[in-house]
Amino acid sequence: MPGHGGLLSVKVVMSEHIKKVYSFYSWIYDALFGKIFEHGRYVAFHMMDVKANETVLEVGVGTGLSLPLYAKDVKVVGIDISREMLDKAELKKQYYNLSNVDLFDMDASSMNFANNTFDKVIASHVITVVPDPLRTLSEIKRVCKKDGEIFILNYTGCNNKVISGFEKFISPFRDKIGLGKHVDLDDLLRCANLSVLCERRVNFLEMCRLIKCKNNSVLP
Ligand SMILES: C[S@@+](CC[C@H](N)C(=O)[O-])C[C@H]1O[C@@H](n2cnc3c(N)ncnc32)[C@H](O)[C@@H]1O
Repeated sequence: MPGHGGLLSVKVVMSEHIKKVYSFYSWIYDALFGKIFEHGRYVAFHMMDVKANETVLEVGVGTGLSLPLYAKDVKVVGIDISREMLDKAELKKQYYNLSNVDLFDMDASSMNFANNTFDKVIASHVITVVPDPLRTLSEIKRVCKKDGEIFILNYTGCNNKVISGFEKFISPFRDKIGLGKHVDLDDLLRCANLSVLCERRVNFLEMCRLIKCKNNSVLP
């Protein structure tokens, strides 16, 4: 078992790997995943029910596919660890004239935001990709306001036992190519002490879960 320093360097190596992988995907991401995950993106946006003057954080904003959905009176901050994915999001920001959007190159597992900053936080197809999902969730809780809302949207496989067994089997391969590892979301939410307010299955074959949680953490 690696010690604390060892674990840290494993995470650094994993983050560098993710940056490399998404530097490649940045060119084809919208063509590959834009349509496939479009339904989930719309349902998530409606479930978020963002009001005027609220502040939203998109963790792992990627190429910014959902940025044009927000009204201009909503302050949206997107962070991502991949410069190339952010560059694509920046192009959307300019194309759609999204003066309400700010984008930052930042690691979701240690964010430079103060406690209690955002009304709503969404992590869309991110929680299975980050090296340390629990730490990322605890950061999300920290920067989300008390009683704010946290939304997790992620591919979790379909309900068919044979297919989901196969998916678990190929999980290390999926992880290697940056498409996310198998994560027991219910377990993760329990460990993060996040209680689910509501959830829906979305996208083709209902293969993704969209979960809404209330931020119950009390921070100064
Ligand atoms: C599958 S993409 C999802 C992009 C977007 N949220 C969407 O729904 O289309 C995963 C994104 O998470 C980003 N990511 C991975 N690890 C990260 C980390 N530790 N901090 C911030 N972003 C990260 C990747 O660079 C990539 O852009």
